[in-house]
Amino acid sequence: MIKEKEYVLGLGDCVSEMHDIRDRSVDLILTDPPYNLGLFMKNRETNLGALRKNHFSASNWDFAAADKWEELMNKFFQESARVLKKRGAMIMFMSIIRVETIIHIAEKYGFYYKTTGIWHKKNPMPRNMNLHFINSTEAWIYFINQGKTGTFNNEGKIVHDYIESAVISAKEQKEGKHPTQKPEEILSHFIKLLTNENDLVLDPFMGSGSTGLAALKAKRRFYGIELEEQYYDIATRKLGGFK
Ligand SMILES: C[S@@+](CC[C@H](N)C(=O)[O-])C[C@H]1O[C@@H](n2cnc3c(N)ncnc32)[C@H](O)[C@@H]1O
Repeated sequence: MIKEKEYVLGLGDCVSEMHDIRDRSVDLILTDPPYNLGLFMKNRETNLGALRKNHFSASNWDFAAADKWEELMNKFFQESARVLKKRGAMIMFMSIIRVETIIHIAEKYGFYYKTTGIWHKKNPMPRNMNLHFINSTEAWIYFINQGKTGTFNNEGKIVHDYIESAVISAKEQKEGKHPTQKPEEILSHFIKLLTNENDLVLDPFMGSGSTGLAALKAKRRFYGIELEEQYYDIATRKLGGFK
């Protein structure tokens, strides 16, 4: 299906699109799904738009009812268990308050929970800094499919469960803006650590395709899926422009 050093991008719901991926063909799923904080924030009368100063509140992906979101996560983990190789890895970015729910779902489909780590953003928006703690962290969860260990290219060095970077630069948005785009630097970190050259990296909630660019730059193959056409188009331009 996907030849060496190539990539495939799919437009649509990831659970349906993943049906096209062969069993046991993926080495790493590196993904950043909806955290589903929209209704939670709305019910607390939090002005999410103002808090995040971006288009997040106008996007509809983060407003599913809790049971619908859990249904999507269940189907996603079920398909992931099928397409990932035995001992293949998954890194999922997630809001800290959703971590336990995700671990519970993942274990139902045979994933072995390894680690919850933190991404610290060095330069978050200091909005209302005199009223509360500034949100500068997100969690990431590390799982292994059907096994307890997989590829871990640490080259004899200690690797902390804590990563730090600046939020994305304007340069990383030159093909268009995505409200929750992840910096390439942190995606590269996981790709190099958890896969080898020519391995296949899958991001079923790819947004603007940042995981894809990091994968191609590291000489890995990439399969990306996105529901919304505007972000799929950004990913298409971003990966198309990669030489
Ligand atoms: C948190 S964002 C990912 C951002 C991405 N990491 C980046 O750097 O651009 C989640 C993405 O998942 C997409 N999405 C939501 N539900 C989806 C589904 N069922 N299938 C595929 N994509 C979906 C949203 O449109 C959104 O772009």
